[in-house]
Amino acid sequence: MRISVIGTGYLGATHAACLASLGFEVVGIDTSADKVAALSRGELPFREPGLPAMLAAGLASGRLRFSTGLSAAADCDVHFICVGTPQSRTGLSADLTAVFGVARGLGDIIERDCLIVGKSTVPVGTAAAIADVVRSTCAGHEVAVAWNPEFLREGHAVADTLRPDRLVFGVEHRDGSAVPLLRQVYAEALASGVPLHITDLPTAELAKTAANAFLATKISFINAMAELSDLAGADVVALADVLGDDTRIGRRFLDAGVGFGGGCLPKDIRALGARALELGAPATARLLGEVDDINQQARTRVVDAVLARLRAVDGNRVAVLGATFKPMSDDVRDSPALAVAGRLLGRGCDLRVFDPEGARNARAQRPDLTFAASIDAALADADVVVHLTEWPQFREIDPAAAAGRVRHPILVDARNTLDQVRWRAAGWTVQGVGRGACAPAAGVAVAGWLMQDPVPATSSDDLARR
Ligand code: UDX
Repeated sequence: MRISVIGTGYLGATHAACLASLGFEVVGIDTSADKVAALSRGELPFREPGLPAMLAAGLASGRLRFSTGLSAAADCDVHFICVGTPQSRTGLSADLTAVFGVARGLGDIIERDCLIVGKSTVPVGTAAAIADVVRSTCAGHEVAVAWNPEFLREGHAVADTLRPDRLVFGVEHRDGSAVPLLRQVYAEALASGVPLHITDLPTAELAKTAANAFLATKISFINAMAELSDLAGADVVALADVLGDDTRIGRRFLDAGVGFGGGCLPKDIRALGARALELGAPATARLLGEVDDINQQARTRVVDAVLARLRAVDGNRVAVLGATFKPMSDDVRDSPALAVAGRLLGRGCDLRVFDPEGARNARAQRPDLTFAASIDAALADADVVVHLTEWPQFREIDPAAAAGRVRHPILVDARNTLDQVRWRAAGWTVQGVGRGACAPAAGVAVAGWLMQDPVPATSSDDLARR
């Protein structure tokens, strides 16, 4: 079976290399000549564990090649559409220019009966429109259209592609040619017991955006509980543990902090909200809008916490630990860490940002930030340290040694993953997210809600004592 993978970004490059590793003959196609040249040399433009070796093996075997011309796909049996669907410039919906461009292009070049499989994340209803476009341009050949969403996470893309939690085949007709062909493509995963859901096209399209919306909602829910925990003096980490032991809820994606970012969750909930409005479901759009708002507020709360701590010590220098949207990735797209750093810079703070692997991308996106070459360089003379991306390296910091480098030993742990007890024991003032940071003094209640300035007045004597 010959397969084309059109669009060789994160998803497409991973999918193409994984399919070649399974023994298929694969051509990866992209309009970017630079990307095609780099991939053909075995160079990945992003960090993904395990993928470089797989790419190299695919190229060496001769089963994997890359091209800028869609005509290289003409004789393929299966075409996977993996192009991007970014947020449109004019609103919250997804920009489908690339997806429809590929559909029209395929209609023009197809030379045989084939299956077109969408993997890009699209608004529900797009697959049917693509089928119409392809069939209107491609005469004389039987073309089936299917939707096969991916759920891969950055940092786990290879495993998520080869052994996903589930497979979804959205098809036009259950007894058509699409299901047997897709079964062949995914034979290994299916043989290893990966559950398969065969659905109609809209259900498959919705499965992807609904999954991301649910994950985003879970994160915003726990961040909402973090805000309540701060106000009420509760601990959101212990709360999440209690909630997570309910098997109906589950503990994963209940880590409160600076909120979600990356190339998928933020844009996907916005696109789903926009589609919900188009379809006439305003309450659904409002729900997703709240999830987005709470996520933005999580960033604001961290910015406010840092500024309040700076005010309390009359300081200005901030050590920023982390720039990527999550650890084990060099991706800074819609990164909460970078957004917080940018806002602190806008408020006049003097920042030193350190990220183990994301500095190059972060510098390209925010050339106005000052980057440090090491954790120690970032910490030097800091008035506040803010921990924004939970890289394992930051857990290795010795708090006692770090206290000797900063001007004021104040830590805002915006990911709640540092050992806050150990940092406190080493003399640090530590503020987490939702860890009772602004718990009121005993017995102080204001009109049912407990109110207090988030940062207790701090003097240098206080700091010295802690
Ligand atoms: C996500 C989905 O998980 C994946 O299924 C989909 O295919 C693409 O989008 P990814 O963007 O790689 O994957 O990141 P993910 O690991 O889901 O994390 C997303 C964001 O949520 C990160 O910024 C992360 O820090 C944040 N997050 C995650 C939390 O703030 N709390 C959590 O409990 C979990």
